[in-house]
Amino acid sequence: MSQPDTLVESVEQVRGDAFVEVKYDEAIPNNVDLSSDKQLLRALESWHPNYLQWWQDMGPEGFQTSEVYLRTAVGVDPSGWAKFGHVKMPDYRWGILLAPRVEGRTIPCGRHKGQPAWQEVPGEYRSLLRRLIVVQGDTEPASVEQQRFLGKSAPSLYDMRNLFQVNVEEGRHLWAMVYLLVKYFGKDGREEAQALLERRSGQQDNPRILGAFNERTPDWLSFFMFTYFTDRDGKMQLAALAESGFDPLSRSCRFMLTEEAHHLFVGETGVQRTIEATCAAMKKAGITDPHDVAAVRKLGVVDLPLLQRKANFHMSVTRDLFGSEISSNAAEAFSTGLKGRFNEAKLEGDDHVLQDATYTVTRVVDGRFVDEAVPALRAINCRLLDDYIADCQGGIDRWNKVIEKAGFAFRITQPHKGFNRRIGEFAGHRISPDGRLLTEAEWHAAQGNWLPNDDDMQFISSLMKPCVEPGRYASWIAPPARGINNQPQEFEYVKIA
Ligand SMILES: [Fe+2]
Ligand SMILES: [Fe+2]
Repeated sequence: MSQPDTLVESVEQVRGDAFVEVKYDEAIPNNVDLSSDKQLLRALESWHPNYLQWWQDMGPEGFQTSEVYLRTAVGVDPSGWAKFGHVKMPDYRWGILLAPRVEGRTIPCGRHKGQPAWQEVPGEYRSLLRRLIVVQGDTEPASVEQQRFLGKSAPSLYDMRNLFQVNVEEGRHLWAMVYLLVKYFGKDGREEAQALLERRSGQQDNPRILGAFNERTPDWLSFFMFTYFTDRDGKMQLAALAESGFDPLSRSCRFMLTEEAHHLFVGETGVQRTIEATCAAMKKAGITDPHDVAAVRKLGVVDLPLLQRKANFHMSVTRDLFGSEISSNAAEAFSTGLKGRFNEAKLEGDDHVLQDATYTVTRVVDGRFVDEAVPALRAINCRLLDDYIADCQGGIDRWNKVIEKAGFAFRITQPHKGFNRRIGEFAGHRISPDGRLLTEAEWHAAQGNWLPNDDDMQFISSLMKPCVEPGRYASWIAPPARGINNQPQEFEYVKIA
């Protein structure tokens, strides 16, 4: 299926590898020769029913018996890995798929740089590696839980199908991490795998590990923003883990990235189609001022200032997912070679060890911003965050082109890195989107202009009426340029049972 330009690089990462066929005649489809490892197979087979129970309890509510036009991976070759067909979600073939092994691959960074990549867990780094896998694994079921009620307010069958596709793939990403835990970490791995099914997004007693994965995804605009901004954190983390010296993690993440590309596509085009509907309705009604919010909302479309506030919210909570800009844990993950930087192996201009290198980190010192040169090893998170912010811009530019083409004087922008942050250098400071340090009073007076306010959320929720006739779309969103797998506009993507 088609993907926008920005996503090509993640597909690139598997290009050039040999085709590896996935065995679908086994209970757990896989390309890791599961049947030859009886102990592992038994462990995964005992986890499987618990997973299915979790999916029934926490997966998409109300559509478990509907037939959904889903893409299933049948190989990990980029040119032919997808097969499309109507499937009931609980019957989806969640499998264990690793990108093929690259002969002679070496550890790309840190103190073991240049040594052969590990095929087994390096004993001295066992607990750090397990933690990295658990934290990544925890985000996967979390997003399914966050999105479980959205099917009921889908703006079209096309969008509903995309939601469910994202959901089943996040389920598969959980499988990918559970495979690593169970295969390589013995009893503690099995316990962690079970705990991944027990935490719940937003639950007080046993929440998901990271903050943004405990936020609600109450409406479709949130879903599109989430898949554009928060799944992009997923892309960055997976890309950094794809550089891991622990080869099974690297191979797992390389394949996951190809699925992540679709999630980002869903987010980018979802916001873009929202903007298209808004601009078209404004033009038709003769509204020239995008800030004439009352008039725009009467048309049943989302005003552009509200889109900016939604984007501000999702960007800021997602930036917190990168952790403290200056972090000794991140330094350790890099120095051990367990996690690289974005595109580590392709980066030119440094030694990939970073013993003497520095990186510029913006900090707040005595009430003002100061750019400080910090040992690069300790600034690994800051660097990944900066790469993320740069990666976000492509889609935003494409959104702005739509607005510009329609002739409206409005641009979606990224807020200052310190805006609305709870973690890292800017936590505890009040910073405006244009990067001014504010007093508490100034912040409270203005924050309703910068983050979605109660009126905004009520308005969005008033738009969330399901539209499930094939080929029809809710007022606030334009049809897609192309159908999934080139299906015609009126195709029945979900046969609702
Ligand atoms: Fe994922
Ligand atoms: Fe994702």
